[in-house]
Amino acid sequence: MLSRRKLLQHVANGSSLMLMPRLVLASAEPTKYELVAELTTHRFKPESKGLSSLWLYNGSSPGPTLTATRGDEILVKFTNRLEQPTTIHWHGIRNINEMDGIPNVTQAAVEPGESFTYRFPVKDAGTFWYHAHNKAWEQVARGLYGALIVKEKQNVSRERDVVLIADDWRLNKDYALDEESFGNLHDWSHGGRLGNWLTINGQSEPHIFIPDSGQIRLRFINAANARKLAFQLANRQQVKVISLDGAPCEPFNIDTIKLGPAQRMDVLVDITANLNALNEVSTRKKFAAARFLFLSDSNVGVSRVNMYDAKPWYPMPKLENAKIVKIHMQGGAMGNLNSAQFQGEERPLRDLAAKNSKVWAFNGKIGGYDLEIAKLSLGETSILRIWNDTNWDHAMHLHGHHFWVESKEFGDSPKRVLRDTYVMTPGERADLVFIADNPGLWLFHCHTLEHHAAGMGGVISVT
Ligand code: C2O
Ligand code: CU
Repeated sequence: MLSRRKLLQHVANGSSLMLMPRLVLASAEPTKYELVAELTTHRFKPESKGLSSLWLYNGSSPGPTLTATRGDEILVKFTNRLEQPTTIHWHGIRNINEMDGIPNVTQAAVEPGESFTYRFPVKDAGTFWYHAHNKAWEQVARGLYGALIVKEKQNVSRERDVVLIADDWRLNKDYALDEESFGNLHDWSHGGRLGNWLTINGQSEPHIFIPDSGQIRLRFINAANARKLAFQLANRQQVKVISLDGAPCEPFNIDTIKLGPAQRMDVLVDITANLNALNEVSTRKKFAAARFLFLSDSNVGVSRVNMYDAKPWYPMPKLENAKIVKIHMQGGAMGNLNSAQFQGEERPLRDLAAKNSKVWAFNGKIGGYDLEIAKLSLGETSILRIWNDTNWDHAMHLHGHHFWVESKEFGDSPKRVLRDTYVMTPGERADLVFIADNPGLWLFHCHTLEHHAAGMGGVISVT
């Protein structure tokens, strides 16, 4: 006869034995998503006649917000229902190279009608985003992007965690996507294709619901091809920056949230009660980009945002023995580049512009997915020593790694920060410092997507 106690023991033993393999399985189970790139018609302004042909993930703009917990593996079954090849890049994820989504560099582009499964671990918590990386200047501008949020393992309060993904669309006079301007050489050689219609989370001036007291975390993402955006809360309320491009930073206060193309910034707002409008202030015409509204039955237990790391992923490395890679950026309108090498041949810039739409160069060479700009040894401390010898801003982005930079983006005194995209102003020189600890072929390019297409990019190999 079994006593109750023995029975419990028995059950406990039995179940723990039985649970063992299941637990292992459970943690090995990836977080699964399905994404389909497809044509979706959309009316930006309800009462207008203009109908836009957007290319979206799962028919929504932005694409679905993918979330995972640090340490998870993400599995995305992707299907391409567009009429041209595409890939997905997971911007800011220190990814395994085969999953980085670069056509002809890390994978063959996904052809129309075909599928590809992306599967990769997410070792860092933070604000990331995903976007098309084939002809990105058009595919991203037509809407192929979404947010990818990796949370800490600690308890999460969804209501206190708000994603704001911003984009500027270029609409014509009928409020439809201006398709005629795709590929416009003037944009490509100047500041890129700037839009005239701002959306936050796919909507113009949306209502963002938040709790009426306590703290919130705002995760800003700039998905625009080329525009630098700047946001302020009503009354220029101060916010605390806690993360840049997904990587935690030593917290600091600001009143203007500036974001170059592809950049992200997470900020904490201490008192939600004062929130009203979110204003866009990058041009002389300040306007409301979104409005905060309070959840009516705001019963969000905790009043503070869940835990966050306050330390960058890795400290600024020591520079003795660092490998220095010099990159002299030239070209564009009003620039000093007269000729450049393209596919092994030196040609006048005018000719390259007219025949190939190429106008930017690194060290005298027109870049692309096949230009190797550096060979680094695995684990090597590396410095990309960049000189922006052009008359334009460039949002320089490195794949697979975050770099340290003495940033001039936050006011008068430079600030050393870890990030994956850095906006360089005309004439600026900067050192991007990183440890090349991720093997593979990694792009380094301007995230003004027209500039990349027009020659501003190359590949760094880490072996
Ligand atoms: Cu946002 Cu090459 O990428
Ligand atoms: Cu650029």
